[in-house]
Amino acid sequence: MIRIAAVGDVHVDKDVVGRYRPALEQLPGVADALLIAGDLTRHGTVEEARCMAGEFGGLGVPVVVVLGNHDHQSDQQDAVTDVLRDAGLVVLEGEGTVLELNGHTLGIAGAKGFGGGFAGACASKFGEREMKNFVGTTEAIAERLGAALRGLDCDALVALTHYAPVPETLTGEPLEIYPFLGSYLLGQAIDSAPTALALHGHAHHGSERGRTPGGVPVRNVAHPVIKQAYNVYQLLTDEVDAGLVSI
Ligand SMILES: [Fe+2]
Ligand SMILES: [Fe+2]
Repeated sequence: MIRIAAVGDVHVDKDVVGRYRPALEQLPGVADALLIAGDLTRHGTVEEARCMAGEFGGLGVPVVVVLGNHDHQSDQQDAVTDVLRDAGLVVLEGEGTVLELNGHTLGIAGAKGFGGGFAGACASKFGEREMKNFVGTTEAIAERLGAALRGLDCDALVALTHYAPVPETLTGEPLEIYPFLGSYLLGQAIDSAPTALALHGHAHHGSERGRTPGGVPVRNVAHPVIKQAYNVYQLLTDEVDAGLVSI
């Protein structure tokens, strides 16, 4: 069994420092790794990245993250990434990593993702250059996520994004903003590999549980949704989905 702690949208700045740490100190006893689904900071500054790295670094379990849209707000995403990596966090963008945990291998493919919407109500690559760029950005990210997922050799495979791959976990958000919260292309990427679990954030007013068209369990772990420092999901139990236990 592998136990994955997950949260998203922690939005760390100097006012948040210390808020997560007491629960994080318990992590090695309850989980084998921590995955964070983007919006690590409030405005994507280097100063906030240092606060984030202090809060989530040195936990005694591997920490794997993707960036979110907030982490791009100050156009310092490369410097933010450097700060997090220097603190020992694994930052994924269109790539994968394999962790050895409890005698098993956990593969994680991560990408921020982007918007575009879902079946029946999605943006199309037509017309203005700006629209083609918008949809093309999502297509490129989804292609990289799918390739990363398919390229991992592991016992259990997890997809980590900030934007949502399915609409079910957006339930509670205004329907009008669904196209800015995720894309069905991410769901297709997840379904192109034997993914056991897909984690995302971004939809603060959404719902925790959903499933891709191919049947992969999806969990929106945005902090305002799960309302605690992290949820823990179990993989490689006898029944994979029955093992997706939140605590
Ligand atoms: Fe957020
Ligand atoms: Fe976000």
